[in-house]
Amino acid sequence: MTLLGPERTGPGTAAVRVAAVGDIHLGEDCRGLLRPAFETLPDCADLLLLAGDLTRHGYAAEAEVVAAEVAGLGVPVVAVLGNHDHHADQPAEVTRVLRDAGVHVLEGESIVLPVAGHKVGVAGVKGFCGGFVGRSAGEFGEPEMKAFVRTTRRSAALLARALAELSEHGCAVRVALTHFSPVPDTLAGEPLEIYPFLGSYLLAEAIDAQGADLAVHGHAHLGTEHGMTAGGVRVRNVAQPVIDHAFALYRLPLDGHGTGATAGTDSATASTPARYGTR
Ligand SMILES: [Fe+2]
Ligand SMILES: [Fe+2]
Repeated sequence: MTLLGPERTGPGTAAVRVAAVGDIHLGEDCRGLLRPAFETLPDCADLLLLAGDLTRHGYAAEAEVVAAEVAGLGVPVVAVLGNHDHHADQPAEVTRVLRDAGVHVLEGESIVLPVAGHKVGVAGVKGFCGGFVGRSAGEFGEPEMKAFVRTTRRSAALLARALAELSEHGCAVRVALTHFSPVPDTLAGEPLEIYPFLGSYLLAEAIDAQGADLAVHGHAHLGTEHGMTAGGVRVRNVAQPVIDHAFALYRLPLDGHGTGATAGTDSATASTPARYGTR
């Protein structure tokens, strides 16, 4: 649990404004691509969430490019890594580079940000895959299959614990941030055959068990922005090819605990990097 201060939004603000984007997939040839759009964030958002796949292949040199895009923006930046950020087997180095730039990189952790006199909490984990209810991998058979499913189960347990920390801390708004999807709704547009590799219902079970006002994820480049868990938590797929902007904006009411996050969506304009075949 990390606590941050001081507040950057004055009393009387009725909502927390969450900017979010995932799957920006920056390579070393992308310097400065998103910076002009991100520099508008202090005028329109209270925090920026990065939903993983920030680099193309997970090299520290690519993370340096990401770091330069978001360093010193004037709003807190909270991130999880994605599968691409693991590909070069340097996730610790990628995390270090981002943290050196002031990014709060979460993996089974939570952070509380003060906004307008309220505590706004983010619980983050990369997550993993395995599929959705009725069409999911089971923890059965070969060691490899059991290890696969246990990876997802561990990840969901970490998310549940991080969300529980936010509740214990009395957060007025709680956001679950993952790379993999907790629901199939936001995968609409992807081939059905690959749904099991895009997310897991175990993440949604963790979110519903602990409660959240909004769940944000990426990874599904061909998916759909809006979805919902079985428990009624709103889910947003902010993969950049889906939102087609530098970031999406969500307003979460701050008029009392548990007021929910119906929040209109208002995507900011900016150029969009090239899309990539892998998620
Ligand atoms: Fe991904
Ligand atoms: Fe991606």
